[in-house]
Amino acid sequence: MREGSSASSDAATVEMIRPLRIGGVRLPSNLILSPMSGITNMAFRRLIRRVNGSAVGLVVSEFISIEGLSRNSLRSHQMMEFHEEERPVSIQVFGAEPEKMRIAAEIVQEKGADIFDINCGCPVPKVVKKGGGAQLMRQIDRLQRILRAVRPVLSIPMTVKIRAGWDQNSRNAVEVAQLVEAEGGAMVAVHGRTRVAGYMGEADWELIACVKESVGIPVVGSGDVRSAEDARRRFLQSGVDGIMIGRGALQNPWIFREIATTLRGGAPPAPTPEAQRRLLLEYAALLREILPEKAMTGKMKQIVAQITKGMRGGARLRASVMAAGTLEEIFERIDAFVPPEGGEGKREAAGGGHPR
Ligand SMILES: Cc1cc2nc3c(=O)[nH]c(=O)nc-3n(C[C@H](O)[C@H](O)[C@H](O)COP(=O)(O)O)c2cc1C
Repeated sequence: MREGSSASSDAATVEMIRPLRIGGVRLPSNLILSPMSGITNMAFRRLIRRVNGSAVGLVVSEFISIEGLSRNSLRSHQMMEFHEEERPVSIQVFGAEPEKMRIAAEIVQEKGADIFDINCGCPVPKVVKKGGGAQLMRQIDRLQRILRAVRPVLSIPMTVKIRAGWDQNSRNAVEVAQLVEAEGGAMVAVHGRTRVAGYMGEADWELIACVKESVGIPVVGSGDVRSAEDARRRFLQSGVDGIMIGRGALQNPWIFREIATTLRGGAPPAPTPEAQRRLLLEYAALLREILPEKAMTGKMKQIVAQITKGMRGGARLRASVMAAGTLEEIFERIDAFVPPEGGEGKREAAGGGHPR
């Protein structure tokens, strides 16, 4: 629903958070965990599902190389693992060869994923040089061949995640989304920045609105949503069917529940320091199932660095955990962290939301 539409904003608010159908898959909510390389591994996705329940409609894997999948690399196959509690779950892959993409699609489907997602947005030189990620937005003949190779072998939905375009002079998200629809794609997700912009500036939600207006399949917007207010504004501005949240979920793993509750008229409580401590321990337990201790240390520091932002005394905990050498030291420092008197459960931002 665009701004200025005839429906009242109250009515729009009531409907903003709703189930979303992608092909034959029904998502319980239209808020989606964005794919993030190095972050949305199985442990993080399970954590997000556990703390948000059905407020998170879909979780998406890190991107996985079709080269790795098609040559049976152990690492690529491990990255494709998911747990039943995550469902619905989407597996995202990247690459440029139609035949390898077809093989990857068959592998992902065979594995039992709910959705197969193709990355057309990755800006990393290593990926685009080989023709994958955002490069596919510049080579739409190739993208078309990929979609045509994949669609016939899939019974699960095929979706595509794109950017605004390659650079300011080639913002072709509308054209690419129309191609995706014409070739049988069931949803397109748009990160409203160009490849050249990387993560600079703001995502362009007006362009996302244009994509929404030009295709009939569901359009999911991505970029800079970090609070319920951001989500409300972007739903109203762009009329998208759903919103993806990436970095905001690392900083505030409860964000989907917070947004869903707020946009349904409720007032979600801010997580207490105790809830944050429990979440960190739960994440560690989930990481332990998939990673050796050394790798876990890095992942724990990664989440602590984000989750402590805006927390009272968070800078102190952050500094102390960053200086820890072992996992045990990290746990000791988390346990030793006592919020300042009167700071229990409060965050620096007002209103119970998560600060930006
Ligand atoms: C560390 C990091 C890794 C990312 N990895 C992927 C990826 O593997 N696949 C993908 O489609 N997008 C990836 N993205 C882009 C995000 O999915 C998302 O579109 C972007 O970060 C904007 O949304 P946000 O502001 O909610 O984070 C990544 C972003 C970040 C910050």
